[in-house]
Amino acid sequence: MGEPYVHGYHPRENERLRDQAGTLVDLLHADTAYPGGSMVLEVGCGVGAQTVTLAQRSPDALFTSVDVSAVSIAEARRRADLAGLTNVELRQADIFALPFDAESFDHVFVCFVQEHLSQPVDALAMLSGRLRPGGTITIIEGDHGSTYFHPDSPAAHAAIKSLVEMQRNAGGNALIGRQLYPLMVEAGLDAVRVSPRMVYVDSSRPDLVDGFTRKTFTAMIEGVRESAVAAGLIEPESFDAGVQALHRTTEADGVFCYTFFKGVGEKRRHA
Ligand SMILES: C[S@@+](CC[C@H](N)C(=O)[O-])C[C@H]1O[C@@H](n2cnc3c(N)ncnc32)[C@H](O)[C@@H]1O
Repeated sequence: MGEPYVHGYHPRENERLRDQAGTLVDLLHADTAYPGGSMVLEVGCGVGAQTVTLAQRSPDALFTSVDVSAVSIAEARRRADLAGLTNVELRQADIFALPFDAESFDHVFVCFVQEHLSQPVDALAMLSGRLRPGGTITIIEGDHGSTYFHPDSPAAHAAIKSLVEMQRNAGGNALIGRQLYPLMVEAGLDAVRVSPRMVYVDSSRPDLVDGFTRKTFTAMIEGVRESAVAAGLIEPESFDAGVQALHRTTEADGVFCYTFFKGVGEKRRHA
């Protein structure tokens, strides 16, 4: 049996997250910039795929990036050093037991973390507690139900569904993108704005064919093969046919679409 699938822990998974970050930088980050001197908390930074972009784009802001995994933090530190960043502090910490005072940050940034949590609203409330009134929380999540492609393939949809079900069985939600707005409102945030970020890939964009369709999305599906089969969620032959169909979308006449969701909300100011 293969290793259980856990986002962000496995070396190949880390490579996938780095490829993903490189390909999607503008789509996901173009409208995020923090003012000089502001204190920003990034939670669930993993191996630092977003951290490097954030810190480079807001060179005068001060970032504290945490992750529950010490191994990921060590890798994130190595990458931050390699990038010559001097405005990032990396620490191991759990989102539900953050070692920071109340209202000690101006902004919070969270990317691809909520999808793994069984209590996403509680997590948002914890993060909101660390924000000063009027500070912002930015959340980016995917939604695997937003995937469509040409040529269409029931087998590919079945392979994707096996990942969605596996994540649900682990307490997460691979369809969380569409729920960002209600979750942020339920967590008590003000002025919530959510925008879809669609990745559209055809063969006129070989960088996206390789960086997103092949090395990000299809690699993610391929990575759960053994766990999904072992969990009885799909037959191996169906799974393999699904992966083959996803690769088929990378050919000259293929098209692949996926939508991320980015939400920004404010912590309510004291009355
Ligand atoms: C899919 S990775 C995303 C990493 C990074 N944000 C990115 O966009 O590449 C999810 C990360 O959330 C972290 N994580 C999961 N549960 C957590 C918790 N309770 N507290 C802190 N980090 C957590 C995992 O260790 C993992 O690094």
